[in-house]
Amino acid sequence: MGIEFFEKERIFKLDTPKSSYIIGVVDEENFVGHVYYGKKCRDYKLGYLMRTDEAPFVPSKNERDRLSFLDAFPFEYSTHGLGDFRESCIQVKTSKGQSAVSLSYVEHKIYAGKPALSGLPATFGTEQECSTLELVCRDNVLDLKVILYYSVFEDTDVVTRSVKVVNEGKETIYLTKVLSACLDMDNQDFELLTMHGSWARERKVQYRKIGYGQQGVTSLRGESSHQDHPFMALKAGDATQEMGDVYGMHFVYSGNFLAQAELNQFDSVRAVMGINPKDFCWKLEPQDEFQAPEVVLVYSAQGLDGMTTSLHTLYRKHLIRSEYKDKKRPILINNWEATYFDFNTEKLLQIAKQASELGIEMLVMDDGWFGKRNDDNTSLGDWDVNEEKINGGLKYLVDEVNKLGMKFGIWFEPEMISPDSELYKAHPDWAIAVPDRTPGRARNQFVLDLSRKDVREHTYESIAKILRSANIEYVKWDMNRPLSDIGSAELPADRQGELFHRYVLGVYELQERMMTEFPHLLLENCSGGGARFDPGMLYYSPQIWCSDDTDAIERLSIQEGTAMIYPLSTMGAHVSDCPNHTVGRITPFETRGYVALAGTFGYELDVTKIPEEDRNSIPEQIQMYHKYNDLVREGNYYRIASYAQNHEYDCYMVVSQEQTEALVTFVQVLNRPNCKSRKIKLKGLKSEANYVLEETGALYAGDTLMNAGILIENPWGDFKGKLLHLTMQK
Ligand code: GLA
Repeated sequence: MGIEFFEKERIFKLDTPKSSYIIGVVDEENFVGHVYYGKKCRDYKLGYLMRTDEAPFVPSKNERDRLSFLDAFPFEYSTHGLGDFRESCIQVKTSKGQSAVSLSYVEHKIYAGKPALSGLPATFGTEQECSTLELVCRDNVLDLKVILYYSVFEDTDVVTRSVKVVNEGKETIYLTKVLSACLDMDNQDFELLTMHGSWARERKVQYRKIGYGQQGVTSLRGESSHQDHPFMALKAGDATQEMGDVYGMHFVYSGNFLAQAELNQFDSVRAVMGINPKDFCWKLEPQDEFQAPEVVLVYSAQGLDGMTTSLHTLYRKHLIRSEYKDKKRPILINNWEATYFDFNTEKLLQIAKQASELGIEMLVMDDGWFGKRNDDNTSLGDWDVNEEKINGGLKYLVDEVNKLGMKFGIWFEPEMISPDSELYKAHPDWAIAVPDRTPGRARNQFVLDLSRKDVREHTYESIAKILRSANIEYVKWDMNRPLSDIGSAELPADRQGELFHRYVLGVYELQERMMTEFPHLLLENCSGGGARFDPGMLYYSPQIWCSDDTDAIERLSIQEGTAMIYPLSTMGAHVSDCPNHTVGRITPFETRGYVALAGTFGYELDVTKIPEEDRNSIPEQIQMYHKYNDLVREGNYYRIASYAQNHEYDCYMVVSQEQTEALVTFVQVLNRPNCKSRKIKLKGLKSEANYVLEETGALYAGDTLMNAGILIENPWGDFKGKLLHLTMQK
């Protein structure tokens, strides 16, 4: 494992436990080529795969056909304007108005560990856990240095990449495009897997066969978005859930992105990922640097399951920093669906009292406690406690909740400003807006210009002062509209193209600062549900609200997409009341509990008002959470059946790292008449071990469970679920 350089062949070999990534430097101009990415190879002499011995050969042997070379060579980091007509990763605008870039290898460094990315979230590891290659490339005409960073980890099959650009010249250069990763590979009849949705239906998985031309996903909304996700996977035509080649690319970033695959004339695919070049233009003065965010590459020979395992391991061990990451989260009750804006201290304490008696551990006060916010038209930015509602003050409320033995959490939407707010009256120029145009409203709100230091300073202080005023142990940080009307009152004309990215850096800075001052806080990010569920935010918060849709059946596919790439420990999931507030569906309370068990678990209902039968079953549900949460949080997750695909039932399981315990969740959506039981084949167990099924006491061999399967009777009724708990026989 690790990274090696073979000087004679000019080959870099990066090994993870089960994959190899190989880079070659070719020709007199030192082009950096992509040699191989896939299942681990012992040998490094794979440079022939770059096909430079075939016509048109390399420019030093055939300058006449230089363009043919540039347009077919598998580049590690493609450049613009000189003959590679596929998607480029970097493009500039010089003082002379030119846009071309050419990069040649200059030198490199290989070392143990992994550098942090200035101002950006990124995966991390110790010197024992990972190693890094810095490939320094240069454009001698532009005097531009481009450093390509690659890191590999000892315990998971990923290669992370990022890019730093340094202006070593005497003139200002504008970067109009800086992507973070490029992967040129022969097509394997690839299908492109991406995730899409909308509010209340995030991260639904889409498969499409790659065709000639460009296809992919983007966001221009200033956040990773409900609609498209900063992730894509190339799945070989013959790959399945369990077997075959899958290449994943995941962006550790929370703003505009581009993820694109392009099938070209020679049947090779170029996959790229990075900050969306649309509306991006970064001014680089002499000696300035630009750091592009990180992309996680994952290769799996074990189909989608292998990709999932590698990403889960990476994020659990090398991305989430919160002290909560390996801990059971307090079971919370959130008052949003319980009361919406209609609450006061008495109401919250009523809920808390009843909840604490049932075993719930934290009360979260959602939107509506500040300014004069009695609906969603007003007061964002005025982070002063509304003492008409929170009579007695915030500290009194928190102390009373603490006296019940519960923790207290609070909701903020720090990035926003209501036109109807004291803050807007005082600082109308703090909202993002195009001069001479009235900015568009969404949920009757504007976005604060977090590219400005004064705005960040004020925003931070207004939330920190609340956090300092009482024993607040949890924050739900919300963000309820996309960015539009892009303009900053402070940035000069030639830096307006920096606003989108500076905004994201501003969000990161605020969250970093908050977690530094309040290191024990449990932070849950949220964006109108799950519009900013991305690896960038996980660097700051160990969990993210998955979706505003809390219906157990809708959640099956939302959580399926989410869990394909994120650990279960990160998925905010609650039991809510019925009829469900988003779809009006009535599902058994028990099933709602099973589905929420796959995530952080909590309640989003008025516990004083729900049917008594449901209320009475909460203590048992809570016991179930305590019994299984360690396993769910730390175990390996496997998808068994997808309701999104079969339209009938859903099934997934979690197996402990030692393979001694497993929990299978089965949800049948609609019941079927006159049908036999379903056969389910389990995964991830030890073939040679025996397992006891707790529900029946029956003993099964591990290989029987995985190869032959078990039978699950059709539950009576619709939307019924079942948990199967298996423990290894000692
Ligand atoms: C967003 C969140 C909800 C809730 C409301 C409050 O929609 O996703 O959970 O906090 O805002 O306005």
